Parts: sequence; structure tokens; C-alpha cells
Amino acid sequence: MVATSKKSKNVCFVGIDLGTSRSVVSTSNGTCEWVESYVGWPKDFVARKMLGKNVLIGSEALEHRHSLHLSRPLANGVFKDGTEQDSKAVKELVAHLLELSGAEEGDQIHIAVGVPAEALKINKKAIKDTVGAYADSLIVVSEPFSVAYGLGALDNTLIIDIGAGTVDFCIMHGTVPNDEDQRSLTTAGDYIDEQLLDLLQEAHPESKFSLNMVRNFKEEHGFVGNAKKKVMVKVPVDGKFTSINIGNELKIACESILPPIVETIIGLISGFDPEFQERIRQNIILAGGGSQLEGLEEYLTDAMKNFESCKFRCIEDPLCAGAMGAMELVTDMPEELLEALGNEESPR
Ligand SMILES: Nc1ncnc2c1ncn2[C@@H]1O[C@H](COP(=O)(O)OP(=O)(O)OP(=O)(O)O)[C@@H](O)[C@H]1O
Ligand SMILES: [Mg+2]
Repeated sequence: MVATSKKSKNVCFVGIDLGTSRSVVSTSNGTCEWVESYVGWPKDFVARKMLGKNVLIGSEALEHRHSLHLSRPLANGVFKDGTEQDSKAVKELVAHLLELSGAEEGDQIHIAVGVPAEALKINKKAIKDTVGAYADSLIVVSEPFSVAYGLGALDNTLIIDIGAGTVDFCIMHGTVPNDEDQRSLTTAGDYIDEQLLDLLQEAHPESKFSLNMVRNFKEEHGFVGNAKKKVMVKVPVDGKFTSINIGNELKIACESILPPIVETIIGLISGFDPEFQERIRQNIILAGGGSQLEGLEEYLTDAMKNFESCKFRCIEDPLCAGAMGAMELVTDMPEELLEALGNEESPR
């Protein structure tokens, strides 16, 4: 870590949200860019010649996956067990994000990286080893905390960040949250996709489905709640596209992650200072890509009625909120703390 003055001219503050499915970068110059968290290397010399590149990132890598050794290096929001390929992939991803950020060579770069709440301790060293090479200083923060910070939701708020690998919970009470204020569940967006794939394969054995296909169905039509909806999609049957109704399976798959979310909300709020519980119940914020499921606010409001009535609201920009919050955090961080946070004892 380098002790740099935050007042220096070419200082760039960068927030990075390293996500299981998408990685996002936001900088103090106002950019917010994202890339799907895939990295691929050509399988052989034919692939190399066809692609004309040594490494492909994001949707480009996904599109050419048959010609690549493909890595989706973040599983359940954490670095997969540290295989060399995955850590190489994270390095490529971060380098690519920094390129997208517009930070220039020679700039002093201060980075905050958001990771899932409970994985923070495991991830911190791996992230420092990987991202530290690009930064003059680096802090690692929990994802829902950075979302809360960016929204200015610093007091009496419960943030629920529904990502691909994890659902992260964090109660904000006017200070840096501690372990008791945070939880992670590993049944999130990817889990919905796996459920949907199984259900559709079972209901339509004559059709072929892939995880990618069903994820697209979910992102376009996903819903929860009482409504019975017809959702028509086209799928290949014996090489011919045929329309089928996936409404029933889609609803079951999307709702499959909700019971543990409800249980965790109840557990977190009831463990908090009783005098503040009501304020938190009235201030629950849904973030992350999964918060875009149609009917989610109503479903959760309804499910919580047996406990106490709660108020949910979805944030407007689930894609950029984590990275922007992380960027604001590292921008506002007092200089002496920024340096202190660069060591192993850093608080969350
Ligand atoms: N419109 C939508 N409706 C439902 N789900 C969606 C929608 N758009 C994206 N998603 C899902 O949201 C998840 C991605 O959200 P997000 O980008 O917040 O996750 P991530 O940061 O990559 O994952 P994590 O935080 O777990 O590491 C994926 O499962 C994706 O399929
Ligand atoms: Mg995320």
C-alpha cells in the first residue's frame, strides 16, 4: 500500500462489485460499466486464429464458449477454491474493469471492492492478492453495506441484496455494521435457474433446455405471488422451435428462494434492539438483480404479515448500486483510515 494524498491531482476512486454473474465498476468520474463475470482462453490454435485474441471477457466469452476454456471465477460470491485458472480469471476481470473505468496509467488508484457479507473474511486475502496489484490502496467491504452507503440508507434500514450466488442481508444502524448485523444465503438467482431447468426438463422431456436459456426466461418473465400467469416461450423440439407455457414452473422456481429469505428477515430483526425493530421493519430495501422479480415486494409484504407488518421497496438501479456505493465509500474514507484499512485488521 502506498500512502498517497487524496487531494493529489490524478487520484481516481474506484468501486468494484465483483459479482457471481456480473462485475461492475464505478469511478469518481461518473462512469458505471459492467461485464458478465466470464473469462475464457482459446482451447487451441484454431480457436486462437478464429478469435484473434488470447483472452475473451464477458458476453463475448460466453458467446464463444465452445472454443474456450471458460471460467466463471466467482461462485456463491466468493473466489472458487483458489484454482490457478480462477485467480487468473479474476485478475483479467479486474484489469478489464479498470480499463472500462477510464482510470489512466499513472493515476493514483484507490479501490473499494464489495463482496458478500459472510464471505468477507475468506475473500479478503484473495482479493488483496489479486486486486492489490492494480491499486495504491484497497479496502474490501460487504456488498450490502456498500449498497446502503450509496443510497445514504445508513440508519434503521435492512438491506437485502439478491444476487446470483448469494442473498446478502445487512442491518444499518448508523455505524459500520458488524457480524451480527449481516447474513448470507447461498440460494439466490443461480439456484432459481437450476430449479427452473430441472422443472422444465421434467415437464417437457421432448425439449432441450440450457441454463443460459432458462436464465433468460427468468430475467424476462420471472414473477412471484398469487397470479397464475401464462408465459409462452419458444424452445427447440427435434430441431424445430415450438411454443410452450412455462408460467407454472417459472413461478415455483422463482419462489423457491423466498422462504429462507423470510426466515432470515425475521431472525435478523427479532435479534435487534427491540426499541428499533419497528423502524427497521418499515424500512427494508431490496437490491441486486433478483430484486427485479415481478411481485416481489407484494409477496414479501404478505409473507411477513404473520410476523409484523413490514414495508419493502426496490432500489432503482440494482446493477450499479453496489459499485457506486463502494466508490462513494472509498472517496469519503478519511485518509488515515484508508491506509489503516489496507491491512489485515481492517474493519468491515
Ligand atoms: N429482471 C430480472 N428478474 C429476475 N432476476 C434477474 C433479473 N435481471 C437479473 N436477474 C438475476 O439477478 C442475478 C444477478 O444479480 P446481480 O448482478 O446483483 O448478482 P451478482 O452481483 O452477479 O451476484 P452475487 O452478488 O451473488 O455475487 C442473476 O441471477 C440474474 O439472473
Ligand atoms: Mg452482487
